[in-house]
Amino acid sequence: MKAIGIVGSPRKNGNTEILTRHTLKAIEEEGVKAELIRLAGLDIEPCNACMVCKKEERCPIDDDLWPIYTKMKKADAIILASPVYFGSVSAQMKALMDRAGYIAMGNGRKFEGKVGGPLVVARRAGHNFTFAQLMYWFHIAGFFMPGSTYWNIAFGREPGEVEGDEEGMTTAWNFGKNVALLVKKLRA
Ligand SMILES: Cc1cc2nc3c(=O)[nH]c(=O)nc-3n(C[C@H](O)[C@H](O)[C@H](O)COP(=O)(O)O)c2cc1C
Repeated sequence: MKAIGIVGSPRKNGNTEILTRHTLKAIEEEGVKAELIRLAGLDIEPCNACMVCKKEERCPIDDDLWPIYTKMKKADAIILASPVYFGSVSAQMKALMDRAGYIAMGNGRKFEGKVGGPLVVARRAGHNFTFAQLMYWFHIAGFFMPGSTYWNIAFGREPGEVEGDEEGMTTAWNFGKNVALLVKKLRA
């Protein structure tokens, strides 16, 4: 059993990564393996609507998407974590959602029945819209989404500030526990 947390911030060791590591630690505590994947420094181009992936399970864009898509396919749980950029997910995260989502859905709904959910960090506002944006992706792809003790959002601006948001950190932790619980129940 394995969970992956994909961090859509271009900033390594930033708030989104800290929050995701926290969630993954809660998952590992429950005996489910966890891996963090950063989009920072990778080349993930936007979807160009060529529709090749409607005919076969591949994307002709030659960049860093494919190894991540392969890990997403193998994972029992996928967490998509994004900072809020102008009230929305980061461009890196959106490119991943569009391409991985379309390839998976066009080729036997590869993410169907997995466990997953969003994590969102912002300085001040835009969490809810971004959280919803990510939930739409999980929903249409057929994931089971566990809840937490609040929506999975946290506050922070400069790297590390998110650790001061006690409720946000606790929510992310409890979300991780529920992800692991659900994975174990589904795979039992
Ligand atoms: C281009 C850009 C747009 C941003 N837009 C918002 C926003 O709409 N709302 C907000 O509260 N914070 C916004 N922020 C602040 C980030 O969400 C915040 O610094 C967050 O902690 C960044 O996560 P990271 O440390 O993982 O990179 C923005 C930051 C950048 C660089």
